[in-house]
Amino acid sequence: MKALTIFYSLEGNTNIIANAINDELQGDIVEIKPKQEIPNKGLRKYFWGGKQVLFGEKPEINDIKIDFSKYDLIVFGTPIWASNFVPVFNTFFEKHSIKNKKVALFCCHGGGKEGKAFVKFKEKLQGNNFLGEIAFEDPLKKDKDNNIIRAREWIKTIIK
Ligand SMILES: Cc1cc2nc3c(=O)[nH]c(=O)nc-3n(C[C@H](O)[C@H](O)[C@H](O)COP(=O)(O)O)c2cc1C
Repeated sequence: MKALTIFYSLEGNTNIIANAINDELQGDIVEIKPKQEIPNKGLRKYFWGGKQVLFGEKPEINDIKIDFSKYDLIVFGTPIWASNFVPVFNTFFEKHSIKNKKVALFCCHGGGKEGKAFVKFKEKLQGNNFLGEIAFEDPLKKDKDNNIIRAREWIKTIIK
C-alpha cells in the first residue's frame, strides 16, 4: 500500500509524530507550510492562530506538487488550535480534492483533546474510507519516546 503523510506543525509536536508514522509506513511525507508563519513564541501565537480559526481564514500555503492519485492511504496530522484543525488545512482542502482514499487522522493537543478537529476533517474528506484516528498530548514535552512508539503501533493496526 502506497502511503502519504501530510501534516502541519508550528512547534514540532505534530512533526515528530508524522515522521514516526511515516517511518513505519515507508511512504512519502509532506509538510504544509504557510507563506507567512504566525509567531511561535509567547501568547502572540494564541492570538494570531486563534484569530485564523475563529474567522475561518485560509492562509496562503506553499504549493504542494503531489500526484495524490499515486496513494492508497493518506494520513493527515494537525495540531489542535481553538479545538479545531489548523487553518492551513482550509486552504489545502480548497486546492485539493481527496476522494476514494483510505484515510487516517491524528492530532497533537495541549490537554484539551481533539475538540471538533476529527469531525471537521471528516466533513472536508467526505467520499473517503476512514480507518482510524488518534490524539497525542504535546508529545515533545510529555513522554516523547512512548508517544513515538504509540504512533508506530497505531499505524501498524491501521494498515493491518
Ligand atoms: C493558536 C493555538 C491554539 C491552541 N488551541 C488549543 C486547544 O484548543 N486545545 C488544546 O488542547 N491545545 C491547543 N493548543 C496547543 C497545541 O495544540 C499543542 O501544543 C500541540 O501539541 C502543538 O503542535 P505543534 O508542536 O505541532 O505545533 C493551541 C496552540 C496554539 C498555537
